[in-house]
Amino acid sequence: MARVSGKIAFVTGAAAGLGEACALALAREGAQIIVADLNAAGARRVADCIGPAATSWAMDVASEQDWIATAAMMGLRFGRLDILVNNAGIVVNEDLETASLASFRRVNQIMSEGVFLGCKHMLDLLRESASASIVNMASTASHLGYHKYLAYCAAKGAVRSMTKAIAVECHAKGYPIRCNSVHPAGIETALERQSQGRADARAISETGVLPFGSNGLLHDVANLVLFLASDEARFITGAEHLIDNGATIWPAIA
Ligand SMILES: NC(=O)c1ccc[n+]([C@@H]2O[C@H](COP(=O)([O-])OP(=O)(O)OC[C@H]3O[C@@H](n4cnc5c(N)ncnc54)[C@H](O)[C@@H]3O)[C@@H](O)[C@H]2O)c1
Repeated sequence: MARVSGKIAFVTGAAAGLGEACALALAREGAQIIVADLNAAGARRVADCIGPAATSWAMDVASEQDWIATAAMMGLRFGRLDILVNNAGIVVNEDLETASLASFRRVNQIMSEGVFLGCKHMLDLLRESASASIVNMASTASHLGYHKYLAYCAAKGAVRSMTKAIAVECHAKGYPIRCNSVHPAGIETALERQSQGRADARAISETGVLPFGSNGLLHDVANLVLFLASDEARFITGAEHLIDNGATIWPAIA
């Protein structure tokens, strides 16, 4: 039996990078996928690649109106939601001295408010599931002082603590919903290359243990998200899952 067979999964930022990899992994393991992204053409491309088990959905995760419309569509079409992956994100290379209030707010609107709005407006549908899982994409930026991405750190810190509060609220209210955060570092994507100011993709081995300092591949994170989304992780909620090849414990790169 596939690991998320029969489940309905909604993945944001799924037109590229980690979101796309999560959508593909969940679909491979039997879920029906809604591929959501601001980039409508990219979302359609991923949904087409998955096939009949996928639908694309254009939305801005920072827009409450878009989340209200999304919840209405999901209610009519599916009547419930089993897996919500709040993954969409951007990075802006600004520190305390160079960041403006407007850019600080924009980054937090997408990655902090976007996660809040997703959890809030999908809650009623998640409550209809026999066993639901929210996976919020955070970062090691919630643990380390990446001073060049100040707003990004603030947003991911909010995701880290909001996840725990949502997990406890769902538990306290008897809702069948787990909520966890995932904290990657250095995964080879467009966002990662932008944050490092490089255009070239790094060659990374598909197999074996990687040396400290090496970047990871998309499926390294997608495998963790798949596990947390599945009922294999039924005893895990409110937990922060570092997936950084030791970056947070290695003083040389901290
Ligand atoms: N790549 C890494 O090393 C890394 C490390 C830690 C955390 N993350 C997190 O993983 C997530 C995905 O990052 P990625 O590296 O795959 O980036 P990416 O740039 O490859 O993909 C991000 C996707 O999010 C979409 N998006 C951006 N703003 C949106 C909005 N307002 N509404 C809907 N969709 C929107 C983009 O169109 C894109 O498809 C982000 O939350 C990021 O912070 C990535």
